[in-house]
Amino acid sequence: MKDLIGIKELSRQNIEEILNTAKAFKEVLSRDIKKVPTLRGKTAINLFFEPSTRTRTSFELAEKRLSLDVLNFSISTSSVVKGETLYDTLKTIEAYNVDYIVIRHSSSGAAKFVAEHTPASVINAGDGTNEHPTQALLDAFSILEVKGRLDGLKIAIVGDIIHSRVARSNLYLLSKFDTDIRFVGPPTLLPEDAPDNVKIFYDLKKGIKDADVVMLLRIQLERQKGAFIPSLKEYFHVWGLKKEAFSYLKNDVIIMHPGPMNRGVEISTEVADSSRSIILRQVTNGIATRMAVIYLLTPKEA
Ligand code: CP
Repeated sequence: MKDLIGIKELSRQNIEEILNTAKAFKEVLSRDIKKVPTLRGKTAINLFFEPSTRTRTSFELAEKRLSLDVLNFSISTSSVVKGETLYDTLKTIEAYNVDYIVIRHSSSGAAKFVAEHTPASVINAGDGTNEHPTQALLDAFSILEVKGRLDGLKIAIVGDIIHSRVARSNLYLLSKFDTDIRFVGPPTLLPEDAPDNVKIFYDLKKGIKDADVVMLLRIQLERQKGAFIPSLKEYFHVWGLKKEAFSYLKNDVIIMHPGPMNRGVEISTEVADSSRSIILRQVTNGIATRMAVIYLLTPKEA
């Protein structure tokens, strides 16, 4: 494949190949010398039109571990602020003969647009509310590491699902395995047209009490047009995951969050920092997973 735009277009076999490759890279990353010469002489550019902490830094580290030359494109100091279009920005970058373009953009479809207009391999690092494929892949990798399988698991995704590209990519990925997927949250934040394989819960306890995995999402205020919840304080009161939940959750449940998390809104500090939380493991696994994706893509000859 030339590009990774979404999980939707991947088969279960594609996903397993990426996860197996990520496992091999994670072993490399545990060595003293963490760098491999695999992509020496090739160039990657990270084009982030939206803020990011985890995705941008882990892509940069993944690229450097693969010996790529790396350019980081800062929108705020670029000619985008003077009105340069995405197309002209792309053509300018392409003139440098880059091999990989990692793009995050507020518009759903931006990554696909870029992929269709460049011979470079394009990796979607999040486009609007559409997809965030490498997040779903690193989430699956993290679940596999802890649980040893994806098949047979009950996975509850809790919170602002309609505005979440992470939830969408996770739904596509988990649906390719034999999983029991639940969407849990207030009706205003859950899709009206959820696929048939998803169970809907408007009650937190009922939705998560027998789950093997609880994935929390932040309230994405930047994408909400209108009032979806009365207030963040009330959201925490009703939907926030607090330590009291450990009295009814499974003993071996794992708590996940793609970040950035808002403590005191969707998660309490006690839960975020508990032994059941694998949130920092997810961050760590972003590097090996993104190395695998870059390694497995093949740019077209320009
Ligand atoms: N999970 C995620 O996309 O985090 P960042 O926005 O910090 O990259």
